[in-house]
Amino acid sequence: DYVLKYKDDIKLYVAIHSYGQWLLQPFKVYRVTPKSMNDVELLKQLEENVNYDFWSDVRALNRPVDIMVPPALQNEFENLVETHQIQSELFINDVEEVIQEESRRQRVSPRLTRGEVTFSEYMRYDDIVAYLVRLGQEYSNIITTEVVGRSFEGRDIYLVKISSGGSNKTTIFAEGTIHAREWIVPPVMLYIINQLVENGDNSYLYEDIDWAIIPVVNPDGYEFSHEDTRLWRKTRTPGTICYGTDGNRNFDYKWMVSGASNWQCHETYAGHIPFSEPETRAIQDYVLQHKDDIKLYLSVHSYGRWMLHPWGYTTEDADNVAELKELGDLFAAAIYDVNGTVYRVGSSAGLLGFAAGGSDDWGKGGADIDLAYTVELPDDSFILPVERIQPVVEESWEGFKALHDYIREKF
Ligand code: ARG
Ligand code: ZN
Repeated sequence: DYVLKYKDDIKLYVAIHSYGQWLLQPFKVYRVTPKSMNDVELLKQLEENVNYDFWSDVRALNRPVDIMVPPALQNEFENLVETHQIQSELFINDVEEVIQEESRRQRVSPRLTRGEVTFSEYMRYDDIVAYLVRLGQEYSNIITTEVVGRSFEGRDIYLVKISSGGSNKTTIFAEGTIHAREWIVPPVMLYIINQLVENGDNSYLYEDIDWAIIPVVNPDGYEFSHEDTRLWRKTRTPGTICYGTDGNRNFDYKWMVSGASNWQCHETYAGHIPFSEPETRAIQDYVLQHKDDIKLYLSVHSYGRWMLHPWGYTTEDADNVAELKELGDLFAAAIYDVNGTVYRVGSSAGLLGFAAGGSDDWGKGGADIDLAYTVELPDDSFILPVERIQPVVEESWEGFKALHDYIREKF
């Protein structure tokens, strides 16, 4: 009413709100270490606030948790740790600066030839696909590419199968990059493929065992993390207010039972129904079709150096927990021998806290694949300098070979 009445006189209209200063201030990451059960509970409550981005899970006493705090909540957060005397240190002072720094370093490397692979920069999805397709043409006797689904935005989801031929052979299934920001995952998946296919010494690794590998389950999110938001985790399916579902809470086994959110803006939003996402359905379809052959299910993530086995939805032991632990230990030991990297082995819920609807739980409980794992690669951040790619892919490869040796021996 007022403005319309005086509209001819008013020459400048200003609306004033608070929180405007956030544009000028950095996002920070704090490393917080709970020292009492009270602290643990407090952090778990904080995790429910969608404005805090928990880079790692709240686990237990004395286990550090990395929390990204937006500028508008800086004061609130600092007051909270101050009042409750929670041990907290500044881990990254300016997240954007670290991201910018890494992308500057990435850009100085020479442009990749199409169809080639590199382990000295983070590849875009198109380049990853071009590499897989080139291998499929050049080594058609051992590797085939298959489109197992289409992402929400219409990208082809590729699976490669590496086999010496024959049908219904014991298969190792591995999927990676269901979470977009975990950039070390695609190189690790590609290195497995590269070593199996392009290194003649490794042909024994697919003599008796087939490999079925989906390097990038969530290409929409992965590309979005390159183009727009580096720390994007979820798929890119739009909700009414927020985008994306957490693919690793979307599987139909004990869905939404624990450690997942039914709020679409949350980083662990489980989706409105199980398998709501085309990306997780692609896995479901392939795995169910080949469930009798698949003897090992691997879901590759970062970060934290964990070898996790079911369950994620409960702290109860899986029926074959002894074997899961034994094989997990073999994986960890093989990696340790390379550069001394220490993985911890155990159940997801036991080590990291509840998270239902994960692909590993579904692999075991839904598809009856007894040996199912989530690998959490190094290091201590999503933003790994490109120099870390080569050492990480090499040490991880030793772990995967150890898994193969066990599977080949047993089946
Ligand atoms: N950090 C992984 C996630 O949040 C851990 C998944 C482990 N598996 C599980 N079923 N909880 O998705
Ligand atoms: Zn993840």
